[in-house]
Amino acid sequence: MGKEYVIKTCIENLENILNSFPLQVASISKESWNKKESESKWSKKEVLGHLIDSGFNNLQRFIRVQYEETPHIAYNQNEWVKSQNWQALPIENVVQLWKVINQQILHIWKNFPENKVNVKINVSKEKTELYTFAEIMEDYIVHFHHHEKQIVSKMITVIAAIGKNNELGKGNDLIWHLPADLKRFKKVTSGHHIVMGRNTFESIGKPLPNRTTIIITRNKDYSKEGCLTANSIEEALELSKKDTDVFIIGGAQIYKQALESNLVDKLDITLVHENFEADVYFPEINTLVWKEASREDFIADEKNKYDYSFVSYVKK
Ligand SMILES: NC(=O)c1ccc[n+]([C@@H]2O[C@H](COP(=O)([O-])OP(=O)(O)OC[C@H]3O[C@@H](n4cnc5c(N)ncnc54)[C@H](OP(=O)(O)O)[C@@H]3O)[C@@H](O)[C@H]2O)c1
Repeated sequence: MGKEYVIKTCIENLENILNSFPLQVASISKESWNKKESESKWSKKEVLGHLIDSGFNNLQRFIRVQYEETPHIAYNQNEWVKSQNWQALPIENVVQLWKVINQQILHIWKNFPENKVNVKINVSKEKTELYTFAEIMEDYIVHFHHHEKQIVSKMITVIAAIGKNNELGKGNDLIWHLPADLKRFKKVTSGHHIVMGRNTFESIGKPLPNRTTIIITRNKDYSKEGCLTANSIEEALELSKKDTDVFIIGGAQIYKQALESNLVDKLDITLVHENFEADVYFPEINTLVWKEASREDFIADEKNKYDYSFVSYVKK
């Protein structure tokens, strides 16, 4: 991987981060923002504070390299950040501070003089290790993503109801009526993006309320009122990247590709304990990859004709 490639992707990465991260942080509840999961762990606010510190350290390095003839610029930035005292600020202002620092980093990355790209620098007076500009950029992005995971946990879930033999549907329709499953589906997907193949959309026939519907089709002219369209699963996930919980809701073609793609974090499966006639099937759940994380079993009742179980699988 060449230096130019690293620099280009790092700039793109930071632009994306600047667009999506503040929105994800804004959706965190005030309670979990300040709460520590355990004594030894940091709260989300502390993690973001740490990100501000590390962003600022990187900013100083870049400034030192880019403007070595005018070191007072670094000094002024330093005073400015210190004066902000992020620990005392409300969420919105902490995020704003983070944004300002990263916009400055982006500005410096974009305007870094080409003749200095290969220059090796001293990281600090005490440390004598040498880094290239490209290495520092890459290191910063990796560092960011590491911390991002502790602040916003993004989950891509495949949700499906399957029969005893992995049956999914027949004649582009479902093969059972199980109100308990529909109720659960509505509860977990409400407020989020739902990604589906064109056949599944046409089977449902309309966008589902209180959710953002994304239809996957190879047809570039396909458009449905109230829905987004994508030409691949990757594109659908890109469209939903600001959502912390995204659901892939079928059908057979999309499930198969999603499970083969390594993009999925969780499977929420309703097992319907019955054999059905079907023409589309869910792929075999590979037990080398997936392990059962939770299970609730129910017996048939007046409303739900079959025994069923809600089973969640996560990556091993
Ligand atoms: N039991 C359940 O939980 C459940 C859930 C959902 C659906 N279902 C059932 O599943 C059946 C529908 O499944 P299905 O396999 O026939 O269809 P599907 O997966 O819903 O949709 C297939 C369509 O998606 C598009 N597509 C697939 N891969 C693509 C890719 N890589 N890039 C771009 N577009 C892509 C194509 O649309 P174009 O042809 O427009 O290009 C393709 O025809 C129905 O019977 C439905 O009731 C069951």
